[in-house]
Amino acid sequence: MFTTNIGTDLVKAKQFLEEGEVVAIPTETVYGLAANALNPNAVAKIFEAKNRPHFDPLIVHLKNVDEFEKYAQNIPDSAYILAERFLPGPLTLLLPKQSVIPDLVTSGLETVGLRIPYHQLTLELLNSLDFPLAAPSANPFGYISPTTAKHVADQLNNKIPYILDGGSCGVGVESTIVEPTANGIIVHRLGGISLEELKSNFKDVSLNLNHASNPKSSGQLLSHYAPKKRLIFTSSVQQEIETHTESNIAVISFFETSYSNATVFPLSKVKDLNEAASNLFKVMRHLDEGVFDLIIAEKFPEHGLGRAINDRLQRAAY
Ligand code: TXA
Ligand code: MG
Repeated sequence: MFTTNIGTDLVKAKQFLEEGEVVAIPTETVYGLAANALNPNAVAKIFEAKNRPHFDPLIVHLKNVDEFEKYAQNIPDSAYILAERFLPGPLTLLLPKQSVIPDLVTSGLETVGLRIPYHQLTLELLNSLDFPLAAPSANPFGYISPTTAKHVADQLNNKIPYILDGGSCGVGVESTIVEPTANGIIVHRLGGISLEELKSNFKDVSLNLNHASNPKSSGQLLSHYAPKKRLIFTSSVQQEIETHTESNIAVISFFETSYSNATVFPLSKVKDLNEAASNLFKVMRHLDEGVFDLIIAEKFPEHGLGRAINDRLQRAAY
């Protein structure tokens, strides 16, 4: 049990992390639950606070690209092309790990996920530490990811000593996870860097998004990011509403629109998919806590961050 404090005190955050405690940190994507990635006891506390199964590996957050070689080996050229083009930013690279990375971090896998978050406060924190930070999203396992310090506090109160408050996350969906190869890249999770952006830099981009039986990544589980309330994901919203006339229905839509017998929550009035992504988890939480008994989410356009939004909604609905 801890008294959880929220603030912007980097010295305090650093102190807790150096003592092997867990601190929630802001990133441009979602809040993370961070601990010293090189200390298995500290890392174990992340799994405990989150109730996360140990088969699910953690991403390691670094201060800059020079650190890649300390924690990864046999790094293909494509990794450096990605780094130059997109980092710091919402992209995680899966690379063969160095032995300093504890097995607990990678769940025994031979690869480690490395990421340089694009958030001023967290970059300052990383620069003040002499170890990298292992951090999954700061939500109980399987639930909606947090995009504000308050979201973290709502669910992890008393489980961690400190939440570093960096405001609302600008991107709002998790990093894109890619495996750089000799010839190109393999995408393991859709996220803040769109497929189009990746394809404009590499000829060979393949997808490996679903491993329900043996997931390499929890973001590959068919059910994830899920509210407690029932969520239906569909491209025919009005039809779904009509089959649930007894319910008090909320609809998550892309832009402003109206459906009869439902309250509509548009994610972007100006039809901007990036803005919609940044609002997605906040609105899902709001509806999960509110008076509605059914959430219907409409299918978003399959381009840009629309793909990552559809991916999250699909898993939330499963
Ligand atoms: O944007 C993000 O990536 C956020 C922020 C906090 O950095 N983090 C995040 O962590 O989304 P998490 O743990 O919720 O999701 C990371 C995903 C998991 O599904 C995990 O299984 C996968 O990354 N992952 C981590 N290391 C991996 C590895 N070596 N091989 C395959 N998948 C890996
Ligand atoms: Mg997560």
